[in-house]
Amino acid sequence: TWAISWVAAAYHNGMHLLPAAAPHDLATLAAALTTHGVCLLPDFQDAIATRALRLQLQAMQATGNLQPAGTGQGAGHRSSGMTRGDSTHWIEEDQGTATTAYLSALHALRASMNRQLFLGMPEVEAHFACYPAGAGYKRHRDRFQGSNSRVLSLVTYLNDDWQDADGGALRLHLPEGTVDVLPQACMSVCFLSETEHEVLPATRERLSIAAWLRTG
Ligand code: OGA
Ligand code: MN
Repeated sequence: TWAISWVAAAYHNGMHLLPAAAPHDLATLAAALTTHGVCLLPDFQDAIATRALRLQLQAMQATGNLQPAGTGQGAGHRSSGMTRGDSTHWIEEDQGTATTAYLSALHALRASMNRQLFLGMPEVEAHFACYPAGAGYKRHRDRFQGSNSRVLSLVTYLNDDWQDADGGALRLHLPEGTVDVLPQACMSVCFLSETEHEVLPATRERLSIAAWLRTG
């Protein structure tokens, strides 16, 4: 039996709960993804790690190291106009202790999903994202057209004391219905990259890391 618990963090039309897995219980994450296509990971980054990641993002912000996001890639790349309003910074090795620890957690998750789900994902990519108040990201999938390389999406939130009234939910359009996840510090959410989702505008700045596990 799998230790899936159900978290009431997300409601839309008062109908849905989401499965959740403890931070190191990646077997439960795999089971929830197989069955439901989505799983919450509370404390995938704990309070200390989350704070360190937020400080690293804010330092990049302060030094002008975030770029307005585009959509698509290569020849299909276009500046995003109204599609998305965030600014991003790609995370690489040797950018600081917080991101180094984050990347090793991401690779552990990748290796575990490869073992348990036979997914064969050799690569990860991840970026910090900052949505200013009023910005969102229209309904989309994370797989680029003509490419199936993104298999799993993982979003980690860095915002202390997020309230319902602040808005800014991640809205997932699941087969069973529509579910909202607030971008609360220490919450991460993992879902199949083919899932349609959107970021609703918030009344305050919204900080996160978006990551993808890829086949190549
Ligand atoms: C994305 C995305 C969701 C979020 O960056 O592709 O959908 O909650 N982010 O920030
Ligand atoms: Mn997305």
